[in-house]
Amino acid sequence: MAGHSFFLGIQIVALLAGAHGANIVGLFASLSPSHLVIQMSMARILAEKGHNVTVVTVLKPPFLHKDITHILVPLEKDDLQAFSSVVAGLSKTDNSNAYVSMFRSIRQMIQAFSKMGSVMKHPVVKNLYEHPDNRFDLVIVGYFMNSFQLALAHKLKVPLVVALSNPPSFLGNILGNPDEVSYVPAMHLTVEPGIPMSFGKRLINQFGSLAQRLFMFVLEYNNARTYREIYGDDPTLPSYGDLNKNISLIFFASHGISEGPIRPNVPAVIEIGGIQVKDQPDTLPQNMKEFLKEAPNGAILLSLGSNLKIDNLKPETVQKMFNVVSKLKQKVIWKWDDLKNSPGESKNILYSEWVPQDDILAHPNITLFITHAGKGGVTEAQYHGKPMLALPVFGDQPANADAMVKQGFGLQQSLLTLEEDSFLRNIQELLENPKYSKAVQAFSTLYRDRPMSARQTLVYWVEYVIRYHGAPHLQSPVVHMNYIAANNLDIYAVVLAAIAAIYFIVKLVFGLLIKKLKSGLGKSHVRPQSKLKKKQS
Ligand SMILES: *[C@@H]1O[C@H](CO)[C@@H](O)[C@H](O)[C@H]1NC(C)=O
Ligand SMILES: *[C@@H]1O[C@H](CO)[C@@H](O)[C@H](O)[C@H]1NC(C)=O
Ligand SMILES: *[C@@H]1O[C@H](CO)[C@@H](O)[C@H](O)[C@H]1NC(C)=O
Repeated sequence: MAGHSFFLGIQIVALLAGAHGANIVGLFASLSPSHLVIQMSMARILAEKGHNVTVVTVLKPPFLHKDITHILVPLEKDDLQAFSSVVAGLSKTDNSNAYVSMFRSIRQMIQAFSKMGSVMKHPVVKNLYEHPDNRFDLVIVGYFMNSFQLALAHKLKVPLVVALSNPPSFLGNILGNPDEVSYVPAMHLTVEPGIPMSFGKRLINQFGSLAQRLFMFVLEYNNARTYREIYGDDPTLPSYGDLNKNISLIFFASHGISEGPIRPNVPAVIEIGGIQVKDQPDTLPQNMKEFLKEAPNGAILLSLGSNLKIDNLKPETVQKMFNVVSKLKQKVIWKWDDLKNSPGESKNILYSEWVPQDDILAHPNITLFITHAGKGGVTEAQYHGKPMLALPVFGDQPANADAMVKQGFGLQQSLLTLEEDSFLRNIQELLENPKYSKAVQAFSTLYRDRPMSARQTLVYWVEYVIRYHGAPHLQSPVVHMNYIAANNLDIYAVVLAAIAAIYFIVKLVFGLLIKKLKSGLGKSHVRPQSKLKKKQS
């Protein structure tokens, strides 16, 4: 017995050891800096855990680590420009209706995404699987409408995990996660937590979910074409439709228990919301540290993110914002890209091209975060329990802002129609009314209370997949079923056909029976015949 458990022990140790110092490649070709922050945080954590991490990016990563090998895929300026113009186009319209803007920009988006195909053709990426000395144990693909990039795992013949900067209501279905449209809001629809959707909401949600599917269908159609363009008839690769079927698990940047919606998830859905937030903040740069030290009335962090360049922001809007914040008693750290052309000088404002947002939000003297409501920033503020004033512009920002306001963590107003007095009123309300910070601090407590931290969860599941060389046992069988089988439509069809058949058989038999009776009884009994006729009608 003892010997047995001894060997079992050795086996377990060997299994656990198998995941140590693994060679992991992260293909993070997203053109969204906020996605890259999350993905690079994952890479850094894995590197800190002793893995040999290689990351491939097209944007300059926000930070590196000594144990991360970074490969930059130099994209053509035109290609990067194409994406910037999509972003710019979106920010010029007021996107109160996210679906309309989504479809309006679909052609541009398809063009921009198809440019990502050139990443896969680039020699530095090809070298990953063509160089005979490269040995990898796992591929992590940062998802950004780029399923064709999943091919890298097939090329390397190693397990594949995906990282997504959304909750599982998006993309979860490729793992077989149920859609549950009647109570799980699709993207861009916010609902009161814990309260069932009304008929109207469900109707909108049903159509929203269909719109999302249609959008993905069009995008995927084009991605499939890009895939064929890159790989031609490469016999070592599955068809585009089957590319998804080897995903071991997906990391989602969400935490359903505290954020909602409460929904069922298949085991391959792993939530690591808040992964980019450090357990312990780093020390701030000296100038910021000093700036925040003398803040008897508190301080504000103002950041409109990195996707939205200054050129996309109207100068009048910037001027109005400056007029308001320069008169506040609070200190303001303002993320501003072009220090030579700042909105104006004021003693209470510190402009900075680069802001360590997470570390600043962790600072006890920060009492308000004015944000474009990118997922990352909202998450960080929620983690640190700081109220927010959201100025959303495009993409998922309006939905993030809506959800944040519904939760009572702050207020929002449109950046495109910003006026001085409403801006000032909102700031004052958020600074003076304690209900916002109370709500967000209560959430912060719930958000951090987990059996394993986001960091531990990531490490555990990455090493799990490496230990077992993939996790097919974790996979829902639905992944390998077509739409008809997955929804039992064929069963319903057979049942309906059977009911119809029985109905007609019964009708036929009765018809014959009645005919027989009629012909048998017809002459002698007149009255019963009329009774039968009545029953029949
Ligand atoms: C780490 O990965 C790189 C590939 O990016 C490889 O060149 C290097 O040899 C690996 N190091 C170890 C110790 O395996
Ligand atoms: C993908 O999964 C199938 C079975 O589900 C397996 O035969 C195949 O080897 C897997 N491919 C990779 C690259 O893991
Ligand atoms: C916050 O501001 C107060 C008042 O200026 C100051 O006494 C305190 O040291 C500051 N806190 C930190 C952590 O800098």
